[in-house]
Amino acid sequence: MTDEMLAEARNNQARSGLTNVEFIKGHIEEIPLEDNSVDVIISNCVINLSGDKDEVLKEAYRVIKPGGRFAVSDIVLMKPLPEKVQKSLIAWTGCISGALTVEEYREKLAAAGFTSIEVQLTRVYNFSETDAANIMPELAKEELEKVNGNVGSAFIRLIKRSHHKFYCKKVTAYGEMTFLLTYIFYGLPVLIISANSLGKPNCSISMAVCSKS
Ligand SMILES: C[S@@+](CC[C@H](N)C(=O)[O-])C[C@H]1O[C@@H](n2cnc3c(N)ncnc32)[C@H](O)[C@@H]1O
Repeated sequence: MTDEMLAEARNNQARSGLTNVEFIKGHIEEIPLEDNSVDVIISNCVINLSGDKDEVLKEAYRVIKPGGRFAVSDIVLMKPLPEKVQKSLIAWTGCISGALTVEEYREKLAAAGFTSIEVQLTRVYNFSETDAANIMPELAKEELEKVNGNVGSAFIRLIKRSHHKFYCKKVTAYGEMTFLLTYIFYGLPVLIISANSLGKPNCSISMAVCSKS
């Protein structure tokens, strides 16, 4: 990100009158924000350009609040590209050779701490029908055809789990009085799983008492 890009963004902001937007200069490998301070990270076609994706995803995990979301669009690979494309600077700046395979993306997100990772493939590219020769000039036409179906676009979505571990204790209580005592002793919240006879004194009810660790 250059100062000129920032100046243009701020200029557009002033022209549009948006007051709830702030542009901050930084790198995604070292996000200039506090831990657990962000509700949502969105990004389009940037992470593939980073030379240190592990650090990017660790930083994403660090700044997202527990319960916050990561919803990123990026280029992904179905399988690794030929070595000469991997080494091509043109293909890197064209968002291709820096792309991770779907499997690598999942592994790196998991290593950063994320769980329940959803990768939705939105497009798979057919290079023989596009001007991809400009992005991968190292490849002959037949080689380009071999890369068909290797590169795609995907939404990568997940929610950062809360740090708190909930533990639940199932108890059987008898009547409203016990319900009240459980409330007092276990310190809440009380989640009733089934209460067939709730409200009737001396009838058995099942409940789970859950609290944060
Ligand atoms: C392919 S463009 C995508 C731009 C925009 N998201 C869009 O959809 O039009 C990639 C952008 O990522 C920025 N970029 C690349 N590497 C970066 C990094 N390590 N940290 C922050 N920004 C980076 C580049 O400056 C460029 O603006």
